[in-house]
Amino acid sequence: MNNNLSNDLSQAAALLKQSDCNVALTGAGISVASGIPDFRSSDGLWTIFDPMEYATLAAFLHQPEKVWQMFQAVHNTLLGCKPNSAHLALAQLEVAKRLQAVITQNIDGLHQLAGNGTVLELHGNTQSLACPGCGYRQPFDLSQFPPAPVPCPQLAVLPQDHQQAQYLKPDVILFGEDLQPEIIRQFWYWQNKIDVLLVVGTSADVYPAASLPRIVKELGGKVIEINVQPTAVSALADYTLRGRAEIILPQLVEKVG
Ligand code: APR
Repeated sequence: MNNNLSNDLSQAAALLKQSDCNVALTGAGISVASGIPDFRSSDGLWTIFDPMEYATLAAFLHQPEKVWQMFQAVHNTLLGCKPNSAHLALAQLEVAKRLQAVITQNIDGLHQLAGNGTVLELHGNTQSLACPGCGYRQPFDLSQFPPAPVPCPQLAVLPQDHQQAQYLKPDVILFGEDLQPEIIRQFWYWQNKIDVLLVVGTSADVYPAASLPRIVKELGGKVIEINVQPTAVSALADYTLRGRAEIILPQLVEKVG
């Protein structure tokens, strides 16, 4: 490990030790070591599926079978994945009371599986199927992924809500879809409390997650970034720990003690 990284790790660990409210903001990069490709790297999901063609709410409403192909591909990568050392390091930080929450853009549930108890899933998760028309939800077992879109059971009962949306979709946020109001409320709650934001494995391309580092800085907080490459966060981060989260995070947690 080079001297710079070692110094930055020590300084970042000191920040986490002396602050009252530490929150991690995570993106797909933290799950790459678990076998789940991210979106925008050279082998990311969006290099296979054009997000504007497959990952918008409008695309699902107009061509559910086509969008279902993307959902199926995501499901195939998520099935059987386990938390990696980066997820486990964040869980250790929570046990040590040096991490108060994880705000994640990921839908893979790996933070909860690793043991983190306070996890805000900005973009939803694969625990249920939901109807974009009437809001109906039903539990969803990832191992029983339906081969085709499932018609909403409320179709006949609430015809007025199903003029556009006839099928259920995994309860994840597509482009053009609003976040759940309760999620937004919790996001606002945390953004005003954060002393140190640990930004791990996100390109910071998508809002509202991408706004959080700047807001934390504007409110007098500190930002630590862990990423293999520079992002929009790097310029405003107090410490940029350049490297793979599954390597860096365990080192950071060891220094926090
Ligand atoms: N360790 C640390 N960082 C990594 C690693 C790793 N092992 N592997 C990849 N990264 C970094 C990449 O350099 C990139 O900056 O993780 C980031 C992943 O960025 P994206 O693929 O854009 O994923 P994310 O930031 O989570 O995307 C945000 O966009 O498409 C939507 O809803 C989708 O939640 C997603 C949102």
